[in-house]
Amino acid sequence: MEHIKTKDFDFYVDESGFTFNREYLTGPVKHKKSIEMNPLLLKHLSEEDQSWNYAFVSGIYHNEEEKEEYEKRDFANGITVINRGTMNGECRKNSGHYHGVSKGHVLPYPEVYEILQGKAAFILQKSTNFDSEEELKVDDVKLVILETGEKLVVPAWYAHCAINIGDEPMAFYNLAAKNTPLFYDPITKKHGFSYYILKENDILIAIQNANYNNLPQLKVVKPSYDEKLGIIEGKSVFAQFAEDPDIFRYLDHPEEYEAEIENLLK
Ligand SMILES: [Fe+2]
Repeated sequence: MEHIKTKDFDFYVDESGFTFNREYLTGPVKHKKSIEMNPLLLKHLSEEDQSWNYAFVSGIYHNEEEKEEYEKRDFANGITVINRGTMNGECRKNSGHYHGVSKGHVLPYPEVYEILQGKAAFILQKSTNFDSEEELKVDDVKLVILETGEKLVVPAWYAHCAINIGDEPMAFYNLAAKNTPLFYDPITKKHGFSYYILKENDILIAIQNANYNNLPQLKVVKPSYDEKLGIIEGKSVFAQFAEDPDIFRYLDHPEEYEAEIENLLK
């Protein structure tokens, strides 16, 4: 059993999934089984596989006042834990999706992630035609490597998939504006993201997904910090929101912060 304790959250992870170690205001913890990932895997798992792949909870607060602050702004937070181990050699991951453009906007909403425990990689793949009947065109693919405490802001048009590249369960926190239209189908149609990440003898291997045409080279990047976006070294996004929620205004005003958000991954 793993005890995952940060300044903000306290929970356990074991063979059956994750449970909280104290009372929070939260929705139910939901689990996704490994075999449910089969449509998105390089090699399918046998139907006998009983393991859980990831668990998530939407909306997590210490008290009513905190909850009201998020609700007032129409923001949603959550925690996801991706199990340890691999699936036929492929690193465990979540499903991943594109964000559509919300009403009254020209850019999709961004999303903030912070690693609470473990080592993570996020595949970010940029497409602007995911909401059309055309062949999905991928203009850029980044593999963002993150250690515990590091943060990522997903820029406009990038589908995002979280991957556990470490040897222990990987937990992350997310913060985004609510009511973002989510597009899973463009990914499912291609049997996953543009690259599969495998682990052999502790070495990560990226394999192109043959269902995509004309894929750009995968770029490995480390994100930087930007105090003006509330992405601060040594300070959790949860604590930063409690102290100054206005700093996350970019989550539902992406057009005004496009360059700053993109700069974090340059
Ligand atoms: Fe998202």
